[in-house]
Amino acid sequence: MTSATAIANPNIAFIKYWGNRDHDLRIPSTGSISMNLAGLETRTKVVFDSNNAADQLILNGRVARADALERVRVHLNLIRARAGIGLFAQVDSVNNFPTGTGIASSASGFAALTLAACKALGLDLDEPELSRLARRGSGSASRSIPGGFVEWQMGEDDESSYAYSIAPGEHWSLVDTIAVLSTEHKHTGSRQGHIFADSSMLQPARIVSAPERLYICRQAILRRDFDALADVIELDSNMMHAVMMTSNPPLMYWLPATIAVMHAVRQWRKSGIPATYTIDAGPNVHVISPADQAVQVRNKLEAIPGVLQVIVAQVGGPARYLLGDQS
Ligand code: DP6
Repeated sequence: MTSATAIANPNIAFIKYWGNRDHDLRIPSTGSISMNLAGLETRTKVVFDSNNAADQLILNGRVARADALERVRVHLNLIRARAGIGLFAQVDSVNNFPTGTGIASSASGFAALTLAACKALGLDLDEPELSRLARRGSGSASRSIPGGFVEWQMGEDDESSYAYSIAPGEHWSLVDTIAVLSTEHKHTGSRQGHIFADSSMLQPARIVSAPERLYICRQAILRRDFDALADVIELDSNMMHAVMMTSNPPLMYWLPATIAVMHAVRQWRKSGIPATYTIDAGPNVHVISPADQAVQVRNKLEAIPGVLQVIVAQVGGPARYLLGDQS
């Protein structure tokens, strides 16, 4: 028997990943940039044992659905092939953030699974190799391996498509204040959405203009230029949602309260409060602000009708192992 435990944070994309050039390898259509979310974490223990007759997955204390197990099984196969070891695994994965809040757990989930499974099988991989492997499980998981502010370079093949840190968390104390507007499970997940993206006539325009937004966002982070960051991340989020809404089938993730929060955040910024929004594949709104504005932003969000819950996260670190009896 051999086992290991790892922890990873989810991340929020400032410049989004939406669409692939190669769906099997998850080579994205554009690069992307994100911030890891401290305090929110997935903790995953992987036990490989010759007594296991098949892979098993326990998610938040319950036997996982068949589709989730299948995705994990396919990912473990990659890691087993790499290690040359055929043992089946028991995977026990727990999120400390509430499920159904629309915070993507696939990024932290596949980052923690990759790290724990590699460690348990004795694979000693460097950060780019771990990021590449995590990418195969879920694209955004590639960005949850390094710490702080992270860029996933699109690359052109398996070897060149991975993520790295562009600045550590200490570089800029930003906070993500998440306005949870719905706890319903989304009907179309990112996995299918990436496939539909190419059916939107707006996707080519989004792809061709992505390098400029990546440059502006990277520079804004490096220079701690909040106004430049605010403009580019709202533009990028709006562009991704324009692609979603014009794909076939159209994906409309926004609720009335989503639009209310977007308007409010823009209004706050006009009145001098540094705050900006970005929205993933769901209705919830991530409001990014400097840490010293977070209490104000939280209070204001809680006063907006339709906001069910507010979650606050600072910039998180890299995915990491737990040693010895911590695991
Ligand atoms: C809207 O990484 O969840 O959050 O590779 O199919 O697991 P899969 O997709 P995923 O897509 C993330 C989409 C997004 C934008 C982003 O995080 O960049």
